[in-house]
Amino acid sequence: MQQYSLFSDPAAEAHGKAAARAGELRAEITRHNRLYHQLDAPEITDEAYDALYRELEAIEKEFPDLRTEDSPTRRVGGAVLPYLETMPHRERMYGLDNVFSAEEWAAFAERAAKALPEASGGETSCWWADPKLDGLACEITYVNGVMTQALTRGDGEVGEVVTEAMRTVRNLPLRLEGPGPFPERIDIRGEVLMFRREFEELNARQDALGQKRFANPRNAAAGSLRQLDTAVTASRGLRFLAYSLGSVSEDGPAWETHSGLMKAFAAWGFDTPPGGSLCRNADEALACFARFEAERDELPFEIDGVVFKIDDLEAQRAIGFTARAPRFAVAWKFTSRKAETRLRRLVVQVGRTGVLTPVAELEPVSLGGVVVSRATLHNEDEIRRLDIREGDAVIIQRAGDVIPDVLGPVLAKRPEGLPEFRFPETCPSCGSPVFRREGESAHRCVNLACPAVVRRSIMHFVSKAGLDVDGIGEKMVEMLIESGRVATPADLFTLTKEELMGFDRMGEVSAAKCVDMLDLARRNAGLVRFIAALGIRQVGEQTARTLAARYSDMDALASASAEELQTLPDVGPEVARCIRDFFENEANRSLLESVRLLGLWPRHEEQRAQAQGAPAGRRILFTGTLSRPRDEYRRMAEAAGAAVMSGVSKKLDWLVAGDDPGSKLEKARALGIPVLDEEGFLALLAGTDPQDLQRNDVPV
Ligand code: IVH
Repeated sequence: MQQYSLFSDPAAEAHGKAAARAGELRAEITRHNRLYHQLDAPEITDEAYDALYRELEAIEKEFPDLRTEDSPTRRVGGAVLPYLETMPHRERMYGLDNVFSAEEWAAFAERAAKALPEASGGETSCWWADPKLDGLACEITYVNGVMTQALTRGDGEVGEVVTEAMRTVRNLPLRLEGPGPFPERIDIRGEVLMFRREFEELNARQDALGQKRFANPRNAAAGSLRQLDTAVTASRGLRFLAYSLGSVSEDGPAWETHSGLMKAFAAWGFDTPPGGSLCRNADEALACFARFEAERDELPFEIDGVVFKIDDLEAQRAIGFTARAPRFAVAWKFTSRKAETRLRRLVVQVGRTGVLTPVAELEPVSLGGVVVSRATLHNEDEIRRLDIREGDAVIIQRAGDVIPDVLGPVLAKRPEGLPEFRFPETCPSCGSPVFRREGESAHRCVNLACPAVVRRSIMHFVSKAGLDVDGIGEKMVEMLIESGRVATPADLFTLTKEELMGFDRMGEVSAAKCVDMLDLARRNAGLVRFIAALGIRQVGEQTARTLAARYSDMDALASASAEELQTLPDVGPEVARCIRDFFENEANRSLLESVRLLGLWPRHEEQRAQAQGAPAGRRILFTGTLSRPRDEYRRMAEAAGAAVMSGVSKKLDWLVAGDDPGSKLEKARALGIPVLDEEGFLALLAGTDPQDLQRNDVPV
């Protein structure tokens, strides 16, 4: 009988090689996922990442048996389930009791101490405090370090199986990190969250599709997780933060404290609630609560209190649970930032793009320490959905933003005969008819000469998102427009000091400063900032960058067809159409002609390089600690037409090195790339020939 060794069979050999490579790729991709999604420190470009990912995909397609449960390719979702199955939790998932004041918290802590067995002398010693996350609880099972199952909390006893959906959550380890050994089985509990940013993006997409908005990030997270089509979950950007332990097999580590457990979670690759810390006594607990309350708006997600847990796990076990909640942990809730007030009026504002936004004018009410008199309502559908009417008693809520949301009317208090709100059919600013495009939730005023649109466009032109002209504020723009002296952004650049001095509260010094600032902006404007300043719909800074990289100036951009525009990265049919619409509009063309005559006509980097010398069209990289924010230098360099790089290569023209520059400096020196310090960089911007720049001594 013929003997087959593993490697004399070509098929087996190919399979073996593929298996080894797939293992490498999985580890590598998992590492890059973590660097990107959790540590915010990517090491490779998106393209390089995609290449690794596609290679793994190809192997798994050719050898389906190599498709493991922890493969990062499983994160894209795509499994479509007929319904969500349910499954009992191995250990019940309890809720938490709430307290609402320092007194209630102290009473809780005292009860906990009393419940402790004599042996510990009634000492709870330390409390672990971390933010109470406003998402939905979920339990993840790992078998020998590999994620195998996820259950929602459900009713605490039985949860819904959301394994495939949880695999798409980018910061959830599909395999525990580190060398192990890992427990044979461990259930890790935590909260599934949608960060504010993803929440806002999701609602913007819902608006664009004419679909219902989500009321808050918690509902959005729950709706996104409990999807039958997991590709939908994958597109929603959910996260998981681990905060407690469920059941563990007997071989699991014998953790002694909750803080030790949290360290272990972090070492295994979990994100944990930020700011978690130990409180050694009541005073520290109070201080900790106050700190979280003060900082809650700075977190990227919503929290609604602070959870305190006895740190000693033995003590936790000893005092156990009541019928519904642990005795060793409690949620101290923040005072509500909901309030009831009366809706005086619904007014409709007109934005820069002509979109009409309803705003609620309220009877002033104090909300979490701030007096509030206005709230946002998003659009007509939202008002309809909530059935809000002028004169209603309404509940408002302040979440992260300073401007609160209207949650809805108090119907029981509705005075009789309040008419339904009717969205205006004409623009409240100029009176022309408003339009609502099919499939869009927004109403628009399309009159380009609408005073509200003009004011906002001019503001945008000079704002940080545009040419970033210092010293021109909203009040001033309003004054200039009202006087009839300014009707387009171009008019700003023809203002004289004498004219400005004729306006209220404009002295000689501030008038001169305004003229100087405008002149500086006019001379230094780069193409990217200029395109962004025009406020073309759907064209923000990122798209402006793409366009400026491709087209030498506005003439070139104006002559690009919609088809050609769509060949650019990030430019789809909608963006291409908005760009075309912009150039086809007579008023916009005439604005461009006016600014061209004024000498405000930026060119593409390389052409600028010939025109102006020095930094334009060259490549610059910043490294080390600089005396001003890196972002500010980046903008200065870009305004001068330079491209800012992220790594050292032969193509780099200058490295600008601050303190502690590290390996980039060594690499640049090795490649013979000129190194400047900050002063050198500023001199370069001021137009000094780089040849004349002394290379100041930069510490290695
Ligand atoms: S620990 C036995 N820590 O709040 C206690 N729970 O209202 C285990 N929650 O369903 C829970 N943030 O899912 C803990 N930092 C945090 C939390 C947290 C939110 C959830 C928890 C529970 C709910 C109770």
